[in-house]
Amino acid sequence: MNAVLEALYFRHACKKFDPERTIPEETIREIMEAAHISPSSFGLQPWKFLVISDHALRREMRPLCWDQPQVTDCSHLVVILTRREKTLKPGSEHMRRVFAMRGFNEEQLRAYYKRIENYYWQELIPYMNFFAWGSKQCYIALADIMAAAAASKVDSCPLEGFDKSALDHFLHEKLPDEMADDFSVAVLCALGYRHPDWQQPARARLPFEEVVRFV
Ligand SMILES: Cc1cc2nc3c(=O)[nH]c(=O)nc-3n(C[C@H](O)[C@H](O)[C@H](O)COP(=O)(O)O)c2cc1C
Repeated sequence: MNAVLEALYFRHACKKFDPERTIPEETIREIMEAAHISPSSFGLQPWKFLVISDHALRREMRPLCWDQPQVTDCSHLVVILTRREKTLKPGSEHMRRVFAMRGFNEEQLRAYYKRIENYYWQELIPYMNFFAWGSKQCYIALADIMAAAAASKVDSCPLEGFDKSALDHFLHEKLPDEMADDFSVAVLCALGYRHPDWQQPARARLPFEEVVRFV
């Protein structure tokens, strides 16, 4: 079997982590490297990943996350932040940086900005705002994090169950430097090791033939 599929079969949403176990430094860095190299629209990398091991901080976050025990019991909680409108627009410092890395000259840069402007106003804004667009990219990184974790036999649980404005507010208060530059929480991912008592329910999926159609 393909190694990626094998890892994906290992992955389940872990609802009960073993609070006694910590992911080794080298392994968590390797998992986060998968996020670092994730693809994004126009290569804009509209994200930042806060990898939180600090227990006191997570205890304070838990009530803002539907009191979900994974927030405090996992080894590392990854808060995936997305950029919003201010720093995702042509001319922004962030956009200049990412395109400078690709070695664009002034002419190429102008042409690219024009393409992006057209995309924004014709394809993006009629359907969603900048937060939703940035979050879509973040969910690709989320999937890569979960797959990389599974390949190292590390369990994960994606978490959308949180009070978004309260969590944004909390993180802006606690970590103002990290949240500056128009960042906002897209999604969370708890990483760690399943508790020995945890019985994973059987995977429940609609039939392959129904959801995958070869036409
Ligand atoms: C974007 C997203 C958000 C989720 N949020 C939560 C959550 O807040 N709490 C939780 O216990 N599970 C959460 N889940 C886990 C799903 O319930 C789980 O993935 C789904 O039931 C399928 O089960 P499996 O992942 O074990 O195959 C989330 C999953 C995704 C993809």
